[in-house]
Amino acid sequence: MGRTLISGGLVITATEEVEADVLVVDEKIAAVATPELAEQWRPGADRVIDARGRYVIPGGVDGHTHMQMPFGGTYASDTFETGTRAAAWGGTTTIIDFAIQSIGHSLREGLDSWHAQADGQCAVDYGFHLVLSDVHESALKELDALVGEGITSFKMFMAYPGVFYSDDGKILRAMQQAAGNGALTMMHAENGIAIDVLVQQALAEGRTDPRQHGKVRHPLLEAEATHRAIQLARVAEAPLYVVHVSASESVAELTQARDAGLPVFGETCPQYLFLDVTELDRPGFEGAKFVCSTPLRPAEHQESLWRALRTDDLSVVATDHCPFCFTPQKELGLGDFSKIPNGLPGVEHRVDLLHQAVVAGRITRRRWVELASTAPARMFGLHPRKGSLSAGSDADVVIYDPAAEQVLSAETHHMNVDYSVYEGRRITGRVDTVLSRGEAILDEGEYRGRAGHGQFLPRGTCGYLT
Ligand code: URP
Ligand code: ZN
Ligand code: ZN
Repeated sequence: MGRTLISGGLVITATEEVEADVLVVDEKIAAVATPELAEQWRPGADRVIDARGRYVIPGGVDGHTHMQMPFGGTYASDTFETGTRAAAWGGTTTIIDFAIQSIGHSLREGLDSWHAQADGQCAVDYGFHLVLSDVHESALKELDALVGEGITSFKMFMAYPGVFYSDDGKILRAMQQAAGNGALTMMHAENGIAIDVLVQQALAEGRTDPRQHGKVRHPLLEAEATHRAIQLARVAEAPLYVVHVSASESVAELTQARDAGLPVFGETCPQYLFLDVTELDRPGFEGAKFVCSTPLRPAEHQESLWRALRTDDLSVVATDHCPFCFTPQKELGLGDFSKIPNGLPGVEHRVDLLHQAVVAGRITRRRWVELASTAPARMFGLHPRKGSLSAGSDADVVIYDPAAEQVLSAETHHMNVDYSVYEGRRITGRVDTVLSRGEAILDEGEYRGRAGHGQFLPRGTCGYLT
């Protein structure tokens, strides 16, 4: 791989912006220095990348993806191969996907199966969280061993009764185990039992269209579950990370907890920042393209999400990438909105969409880098290997053109899905070049990645707790 000098760009990290050159030696960042000092590296470089007029940022870390996830009788349409390729196109050099424990099976079986699916397939590095669907004492003991193997976070669901749902007792018990072994509990916070009652009422009244998805998944049922998860975590004396927060009432719960000094963290996703519930009103069955849980909310929720991203009451933006093709997958819910597979495509666009917030003056460039890369790396025990441009970090580097214009579309995206939730949206900024552990996997807009380049990342414990 040799020596690569990235010269003349504006180096942006979570803490500073500086005109500097970056020296990459093999898989690692070797040094960052002023252009004058870096002149000495030029003769020995195998390659010099001219980054003038562009940003040099750490590769994105998407802490929430679901490649080829089984859901609602089908599978998410991106495999580890196609999904990580799309991630690379969008400047994301690390994903953390969810291995799932099936009911009646051990955690180890779930993890082994996800390793088998991802091994040799990924274009970028990847780690795993574990979904606990069947909490019993032997599974909890396994958790201790898995933390030692770098699976340091697990997700539980207060939603989806009969599928992934865990009751409060199981959640409390798992949190207690996490308090002892250093794992981070991730929570899908929606009151699934109450939602199911509203689903049955809607269907009985003949309300079967995608719009009902937004109605039955009431924001107060997200807020109530968020509150309950926080209280359970307090009782267990365990940290908590609430995934895909979309409702302002849930943000208020997080703010209150964090103001009280509790180790509670929140994540939101681009779809809640850039799309709203009116998408579910599209004619015919088109609204199904926007069915995800938590659901898209009325636009007025967005301001509190943006504010919380500025105040750090929300600390991470992940995609919850879980794509299903409109035909035939979303169409499984024709005539019954509750059968529409839940999830949206997004892994390719997170870095670009967050850049729109920089352009609009909502967040600073440093906060952009923090939300997209450094904070998730730290949250999930990957920092400073990932999310950093310091000497010794992995050379995961994105060279970003802040002035380029592009139009998002299913015609041009690289995700394996037949529609884009951002179809026709004009955005400013584009990823030009991506290094993953020193290798140019996207080179001035030419894809040079390969399945199998991406390596499994055993993770440490949450960097915000130590
Ligand atoms: O709609 C969603 N979010 N699908 C993926 C599964 C989950 O709950 O994260
Ligand atoms: Zn979820
Ligand atoms: Zn998810």
